[in-house]
Amino acid sequence: MTISIHPTSGAVDPTFVASSTLAGAGEAQAIDAPAATSALLGNYKRAPGEFVSGEGVYLIDANGKRYLDFVSGIAVNALGYGDPGLRAALHSAADGLIHTSNLYATAPGEQLAATLVEKSFASKAFFCNSGAEANEGAFKFARRWARTRGEAKHEIVALRGAFHGRLFGTLAATDRPSYRIPFRPLAPGITIVERDIEDIAIALNDETAAALILEPVQGEGGVRVLDPGFVREVRALTKERDIILIFDEIQCGLGRTGTLFAYEQFGVEPDILTLAKPIAGGLPMGAILMTDDIAATIKPGDHGTTFGGGPFVASIANYVVGRLADPELLRTVSDNGAWFGKQLTDIAHRTGRIRAVRGMGYMWGIDVMGTAAHVVNEAFAAGLLTCSAGEYTVRLVPPLVATRDELALGLSKLEEVL
Ligand SMILES: Cc1ncc(COP(=O)(O)O)c(C=O)c1O
Repeated sequence: MTISIHPTSGAVDPTFVASSTLAGAGEAQAIDAPAATSALLGNYKRAPGEFVSGEGVYLIDANGKRYLDFVSGIAVNALGYGDPGLRAALHSAADGLIHTSNLYATAPGEQLAATLVEKSFASKAFFCNSGAEANEGAFKFARRWARTRGEAKHEIVALRGAFHGRLFGTLAATDRPSYRIPFRPLAPGITIVERDIEDIAIALNDETAAALILEPVQGEGGVRVLDPGFVREVRALTKERDIILIFDEIQCGLGRTGTLFAYEQFGVEPDILTLAKPIAGGLPMGAILMTDDIAATIKPGDHGTTFGGGPFVASIANYVVGRLADPELLRTVSDNGAWFGKQLTDIAHRTGRIRAVRGMGYMWGIDVMGTAAHVVNEAFAAGLLTCSAGEYTVRLVPPLVATRDELALGLSKLEEVL
């Protein structure tokens, strides 16, 4: 058996790329549960039981069973559960305005934009309500900018293995056949190319391409850390051809890789960056950061949202972003993350049940023997929450506040299960 272990590289056995891409295994949570009697739409495959509370890095079900959470609400609950600071921020925000609409300015959104701009490459921020919505907005902003360069400049290019959301524009940029096929025809003007600089060079026509979007660490596509050299080549090419580079950091951003933004790990800056998941501590929020050049092409009326960046959610995001930008937290994520990857590699060698280990910070994927769903189910029974990222990859995204002891406990449960 060959163990192809690539701690920081996206270059993996292509059969795994193909299988995880084509598998269409369905939801990130792949636990087999009996069909429940519910008035809720049956579009999720849910785990058995019901969670009723959380404490630190544990979720607790209705029977009092504690689950060590290496899912974090799919990379949302960076501060875990019951964080006293987050609770205080929620109480204090509840005493203020909840919503006014974007017809009026409110201070929390202004402050959040200023913080994100100050800490990033960007000059302007726009707030919305989810990850897919952030990417849809990014596509619109890229097109708006591109049209100032030429009437034909409109195409959006995404990469093999990408996941950018499930709305119509983002679905067309998402490389998961089972998500796409039932909804064809998808939005036109959006194509997927291989993660190969020569293929990209052919696909990116400077007269027709508006933007290329990539996840520096592909999440749903199997936790694939893109090769930094490749990312730099993409940056150079897009700059040379006057094409916008969008980084989707919805899953890998805001501390998860060990820096506030994942792009800091790659030595390049994008033109647009999208964020969501952890930004508001579990409340729905997305953000689009962009350069001045792009922002200057957006006029009142070009885009909008009723709820985006409202005072309540933005107050919470101010608190969360402050915590996630803490250099000490980021250093711990970075150090513990490197240690975690090494432990996974050791487990791979000890058990012979892992074919590849990929990731950085608190974002890891292991390609397992057999299906990911099987491991996810067994881990669930053993009190460890994990989720899949494709048919063969088990994803591990613990809260960013998880200590090394808590990580070690999860790893020992995982090893037992394997
Ligand atoms: C990289 C990435 N982009 C976009 C999305 C879509 O985000 P949302 O589910 O909030 O629409 C996700 C969600 O998993 C994601 O991981």
